[in-house]
Amino acid sequence: MPLAVVASRALQGLQAPPVQVEVHLSGGLPSFCIVGLPDTEVREARERVRSALLNSSLPFPSARRIVVNLAPADLPKESGRFDLPIALGLLAAQGVIDPAALRGHEFAGELSLSGDLRPVHGALAMTCASHAVRESQERLVLPLASAREAALAAPAAVLGAGHLSDVVAYLAGQLDPAELRVSAQPCGAAEPFADLADLRGQAQARRALEIAAAGEHHLLLVGPPGSGKSMLAQRLPGLLPPLSHEQALQSAAMLSLSGSFRAEAWGRRSLRSPHHGCSAAALLGGLGPGGLRPGEVSLAHHGVLFLDELPEFDRRALEGLREPLESRRVHLARAAQRAEFPASFLLVAAMNPCPCGQLGNPARECHCSPAQVTRYRARLSGPLLDRIDLRVEVAALAPDALLELPRGEPSEPVAARVREAARVQRERQGLPNAALDGAALEQHCRVRADARAWLGSALTRMGSSARATHRVLRVARSIADLAGAEAITREHLAEALQLRRALGPA
Ligand SMILES: Nc1ncnc2c1ncn2[C@@H]1O[C@H](COP(=O)(O)OP(=O)(O)OP(=O)(O)O)[C@@H](O)[C@H]1O
Ligand SMILES: [Mg+2]
Ligand SMILES: [Zn+2]
Repeated sequence: MPLAVVASRALQGLQAPPVQVEVHLSGGLPSFCIVGLPDTEVREARERVRSALLNSSLPFPSARRIVVNLAPADLPKESGRFDLPIALGLLAAQGVIDPAALRGHEFAGELSLSGDLRPVHGALAMTCASHAVRESQERLVLPLASAREAALAAPAAVLGAGHLSDVVAYLAGQLDPAELRVSAQPCGAAEPFADLADLRGQAQARRALEIAAAGEHHLLLVGPPGSGKSMLAQRLPGLLPPLSHEQALQSAAMLSLSGSFRAEAWGRRSLRSPHHGCSAAALLGGLGPGGLRPGEVSLAHHGVLFLDELPEFDRRALEGLREPLESRRVHLARAAQRAEFPASFLLVAAMNPCPCGQLGNPARECHCSPAQVTRYRARLSGPLLDRIDLRVEVAALAPDALLELPRGEPSEPVAARVREAARVQRERQGLPNAALDGAALEQHCRVRADARAWLGSALTRMGSSARATHRVLRVARSIADLAGAEAITREHLAEALQLRRALGPA
């Protein structure tokens, strides 16, 4: 039959819409053209497919007019992912493989000139997008490395091949599918997160870290150089509850899109710490080779985003953070392309109190003028700070204090309290306290009238806006949950207020 249709998928953000690869052979002047909005890379597929077939001793119809159509035509299609389906379509159209054998399968993979299969980006996203594959009603055939990733989501339905001829042998019934099954390897060999026991003193900052983990509240640490801010931030992911299977898949799918997924990191909270010199595109996402790529905010999905030296970040990057902090997603639109990526991360940011870092340190002198301090802090806009529920000062420890203070409480008991508080939130409201809003906030953060009046006057005394009330209530809810208390008391409110004092009222 001179027409063959092969199922594949494109990649659009985290979506993987289906693509039909139609191959038609006819008489007329020999030619090979690919239609359906392909970019340069897809055009290069012609050369790769031709060489791969010939070098695998498979026939290439050089004497025919070949038309390949990638449908729908209005989808941007990138990378060599369509090489394999195009090659298979050519073979089916020539009668080398039975078109019926292609049914119930999806294929993606880039070919080398010798017919080896090379991995594609976003294999996990493709798998998650295909209901039929996840339900094992269809099989997904991928290059080996991609298949190992995809098998995490659908171990029974994913097949991995190293070479084009393996796929052809399988479709001809000469190779048992069992030979192409790959093992999903969620091996927990990743290095454990650093432990809180290493951190001495800093009771308030530790407490803030625990509350941040318990209610998923964003946290800002303000303190002089060497006070342990980075130590604290690096210990946050180890306090968070384990990822659910679905969350682990989503996190891995994001990392797989940027080609940075590692099997040993399966199920682990990601910790991303981009340097303050990074561009807005690197932080938030932007145009990369072959399309829109997720930024650090999305690679930290379900994990921790650590922004050290927060005021030193590019102004556009800081402004752009507001969207994911508010909606837990980012929308990207560059040239003709659009994509939406999830970005539900826990932000921990660190900064010095002033440009020289020593303001408020009794042991050292600060050399900054008040104007310099104001300018430095003004780099963080009110709306950005407003989204950070916890803002604490981390005091410098005297060198001898470091030697004299005992080791701190280890991470595990803290993580156990956090798990329990997270369970309470899940059962009560189905979302973390930091995400409580509107009616749900009113319902779950109820306080007695006298405590509310007390909070109102305390906020007024501190010069805070009325909006701050909700932030304080959410944090107080987490404090109460950690204490196993059903009702929020004045003590919970007072501690919540105490934990947002750094940098003054907002
Ligand atoms: N509370 C602490 N307990 C144990 N060690 C500490 C503590 N604070 C600081 N240190 C030691 O000081 C080093 C510097 O700490 P860290 O890098 O976390 O400081 P920082 O506040 O991030 O500083 P900077 O502003 O320069 O980034 C740590 O590697 C650790 O050895
Ligand atoms: Mg640091
Ligand atoms: Zn200073």
